[in-house]
Amino acid sequence: MYVGETGVSYSSIKEVKNMKFQTANRDQAMFKKSLIVALGAMVVALSGCDSKEEKANQAAIQAGQKLAEKGRDAIPGCVACHGAHGEGIAAAGYPRLAGLNAGYIEKQLKDLARELPPAGVAIEAVAKDYSKTPRIYSDLTVFSPGLRHDDIMSPIAKQLSVADIHNLAVYYASLSYTAIPVAADYQVLERGQDLALRGKAEYGLPACVSCHAPDGEGFGADFPPLAGQPSIYIVNQINKWQQGQRDNDNLGLMKAVADQLTDADKLNVAAYYANRSLTVKGQQ
Ligand code: HEC
Ligand code: HEC
Repeated sequence: MYVGETGVSYSSIKEVKNMKFQTANRDQAMFKKSLIVALGAMVVALSGCDSKEEKANQAAIQAGQKLAEKGRDAIPGCVACHGAHGEGIAAAGYPRLAGLNAGYIEKQLKDLARELPPAGVAIEAVAKDYSKTPRIYSDLTVFSPGLRHDDIMSPIAKQLSVADIHNLAVYYASLSYTAIPVAADYQVLERGQDLALRGKAEYGLPACVSCHAPDGEGFGADFPPLAGQPSIYIVNQINKWQQGQRDNDNLGLMKAVADQLTDADKLNVAAYYANRSLTVKGQQ
């Protein structure tokens, strides 16, 4: 016979141990229950303050979807060229938009809408009299409002309002996407892979993966995905950098790469990225 802490008597030590064990279990269960209640309350509280933002976001996505599908006045529906689900049209080299970062889409539409400076006007990179000429950009921050021109896409982008651009960006970012790998000659793929993963250190050319992520899935608003983009589109964009029709990459990061690529490099690396698997979950 043994009298425990609470004054209750037990017949054996073993029983006491069991009792303690049970109490501990009960305490844990209680603790778990109160934790669940507390967490539940937090979720309710959080969703309470999020719901306004959430609603605004859903409204933006819906407005974006409507514009993308139906167009408005002289704005054609984006679906005509970018596919019913933003998958693009590979054969025509029209890019996929589904699952791209919303910030990236916004930037591209703004850059495409910007008027090119009139041809033949020389722009002085460095103002000669610093006291009289207000500088817009400081020397090292060449985060310039970039220029990107395309005969088809620029006139469309020019008609979009700031709200349209935001709505379209969040809509396309909300779409999930699964790439269908395109077959290509294995030697072409091997060369493309070599360039993508290794670059050309001997010419100071960094690997594509160092900026466009290990599987070419892209990174944030500044580094777009290459996997899942039509090979024609990838070649076209590199050509545009080389020809000065696209000049909207911060710090000239992509321009420096494009300038080192040969025609064969472009084809190889584009085939490699069109051959990649990729699954992207849309950001709601
Ligand atoms: C008539 C065909 C056509 C229509 C309609 C069209 N686009 Fe495009 N879009 C293009 C082409 C072609 C390009 C590639 C431009 C280039 O080479 O720079 C492009 C590029 C883009 C890009 C850049 C993608 C990237 O990866 O950088 C975005 C964003 C875009 N379009 C959004 C839209 C939206 C939003 C709409 C609807 C309001 C739309 N487009 C309607 C043909 C079209
Ligand atoms: C030092 C970083 C860096 C490296 C390395 C790099 N890129 Fe880029 N690339 C960029 C940036 C930044 C952009 C986006 C520019 C913008 O904001 O419009 C870009 C955009 C692109 C685009 C346009 C995508 C689109 O949706 O319009 C293509 C195509 C591209 N890169 C191909 C390549 C290839 C191929 C390689 C390797 C040979 C490569 N890049 C290596 C920084 C890099």
